[in-house]
Amino acid sequence: MNRLRAFLLVFLIVTVLPVQGQDLRRPGKAAIASAHPLATEAGHEILEQGGNAFDAAVAVSAVLGVVRSFKAGLGGGAFLLLHRAEDGLDVMVDAREVAPAAAAPDMFLDEKGKPIGRASLDGPLAAGIPGIPAGLDYLAEHYGRLPLAQSLQPAIRLAREGFPVYERLQTAVKAKKGIIARWPAASAVYLPGGVVPGIDDIVVQPDLADTLESIASEGRDGFYTGDLARRLVSGVRAEGGIWTEEDLANYRVVEREPVVFNYRGARIISAPPPSAGGVALADMLNILSGYPLADIDRVTRVHLTVEAMRRAYRDRAEYLGDPAFVRVPVKMLTHPMYAAGQRTSILQDRATPSDMLPGYVPSSEGDDTTHFSILDADGNRVAATLSINTWFGCGYMVPGTGVFLNNEMDDFSIKPGVANVFQLVGGDANAVAPGKRMLSSMSPTFAESERGLLILGTPGGSRIITMVLLGLLDWIDGADARSIVSLRRYHHQYQPDFLVHEEGAFSTDEIRRLEAMGHKVQKLDRLYGNMQIVTWDYDSEEVEAVSDPRNQGGASVWIY
Ligand code: GLY
Repeated sequence: MNRLRAFLLVFLIVTVLPVQGQDLRRPGKAAIASAHPLATEAGHEILEQGGNAFDAAVAVSAVLGVVRSFKAGLGGGAFLLLHRAEDGLDVMVDAREVAPAAAAPDMFLDEKGKPIGRASLDGPLAAGIPGIPAGLDYLAEHYGRLPLAQSLQPAIRLAREGFPVYERLQTAVKAKKGIIARWPAASAVYLPGGVVPGIDDIVVQPDLADTLESIASEGRDGFYTGDLARRLVSGVRAEGGIWTEEDLANYRVVEREPVVFNYRGARIISAPPPSAGGVALADMLNILSGYPLADIDRVTRVHLTVEAMRRAYRDRAEYLGDPAFVRVPVKMLTHPMYAAGQRTSILQDRATPSDMLPGYVPSSEGDDTTHFSILDADGNRVAATLSINTWFGCGYMVPGTGVFLNNEMDDFSIKPGVANVFQLVGGDANAVAPGKRMLSSMSPTFAESERGLLILGTPGGSRIITMVLLGLLDWIDGADARSIVSLRRYHHQYQPDFLVHEEGAFSTDEIRRLEAMGHKVQKLDRLYGNMQIVTWDYDSEEVEAVSDPRNQGGASVWIY
C-alpha cells in the first residue's frame, strides 16, 4: 500500500467510520417527561446551562424529591437506566436502598412467627438505607458535565422558596394524615397548624433545602457521613429504627449491565435484578413472540398476554432477589428456549389456574414511586424510576433534615407466603438479610427499532412491569406516545389469581369471553399508573414527550 492510500485509509477510519457503539443519529432536540412540570422545567434549566441528559436527571430527581416528596426523595432509592450516545454504552445505576446491618429475616414477625401489623410499613424500622443521594452524586461525577452543586440548585431553590400545593399532593396528605401527624417534623411541613394545606398554599422546606445544600457542597459525604448522618441515625433510633452510622457510610451505588433482548425487530433494554422488570419483560415477550399476535382476535391476544404475565410473575416470586445474595438464573429466564417450554403449558382457549403452575413460592413490594424519561439533543438518554415505596414512605421525617424515610423493607418477603402491601408473595430469594437490596418492580426501559426510539417507565408497584409490557406491545404495533400513555390497562400477577383491569379496558362481550376461558376478571375502582414517555421517530425526526393523562405531569420538547 503506498503512502497516500495508507493515509486515506487512516483518514477514513478516524473521520468517517463511527467509533464502535457510537450513535450515528443525533436528535437535535431534547425532551423530558416527568410527573411534575417544575421537575421538567428544572431539567430544561440544566440543559440550557450546558448540562447533558445525566445532569438533567440529577435536577429532575432532586426536584421530584421536593415537589413530590410523597413519592420519592433523598430518603429513598432509584434505578437510573442510562444510554451514552458517544460510545453507545447502556448501563443501569442501581441506587436502591439496602437493609441495615442489624436487619434479620424475622424482624417483622412476633414471637409466634406471625407478621406484626404494619411493622414493615410504618415508622423508621421499615426504612432501608437510602440510595438517592449517592446515586445523584455518582451520576454527576461519572456521567454529567456540570458539577453536582449546579444541578441541585433548582431543588434547593424550590425547597427554600416553596411551591404550590396541587390536587394529588393534597389527596396524599389527606390519605396519610394519621401517620404524618405522628411526627412533628413532617407535620410542620404538611399539616401546618394541624390542617391539610389548601390547593395553591405554598409548601416551604427549609430543612430539606439545608440537606440538599450539604450534598451540593460535600457530595455523598454530605449525607452519609458527618453531622447529617449523625442526625439521621439518632432520629431513626429514637423512633425504634436500627440504623447505624456505619450503615450510612457503607452505602454504595452499583453499576449493572441491563437486560437486553429482541422482540419482533425491536431491541429492548431494561432493568436487571434487583429489579424484576427486565427479566419479567424478556420472559413475557419471549413467550408472546411464539404467537402471530397481529393475526389473532383481541380476546385471544389478551388471554395469551395474561398467561405470559402469570408465568413471569410466578418466576419473579420463585427466583428473583438481590444477585449479591442469591443466584438469579437470568440467562435461563430470558432465554427464548425457556419461553418455548412455558408456551407448551398455555392452552389457546383456557386460563391456567395459578395454583396449577409448579413451585409456588410466595414475594413483595409497593406502589408509590415516580418515573421520568429524558433524551438530550446529542441522543443521551435516561429512564429513571425513583421510590420511597408507599405515599410518604414510612411517614417519618427525621427532625432537622426535611427527609421522609422510605418503607422499602416491605418490598422484602417478610415471611414466605405473606403478601405485602401490594399482595405480592415471595420466598427465600427475597428474604430480609443485612446489606441486601429488596426486590423491586421498577422497570425503566428503552426500546429501539428501525422506526425509532422509546424511553418509558411508570410507578405502580407490582403493576409497573405489566404497564411497561403493554406500552412496549403498543409501540411495536405502531402506536404513538399519546395513545400508549392513554391505553386502558390490565394486569395479572400470578397470585392473587385475578385478571384486573381499568374501566374501559374491555367491552362487556370481551369480559364474557375471557370469563368463559376461566379468567377471573375484576374491574378496579380506579385508574392506575403515571407513565412518562419520550419517543423519537427516525423518519420524521419528530421527538415527543408525553405524560400519563391520569395525573398532572409535565412533558416538553426543546429544539437545540
Ligand atoms: N417500591 C416499589 C418497587 O421498588 O417496586
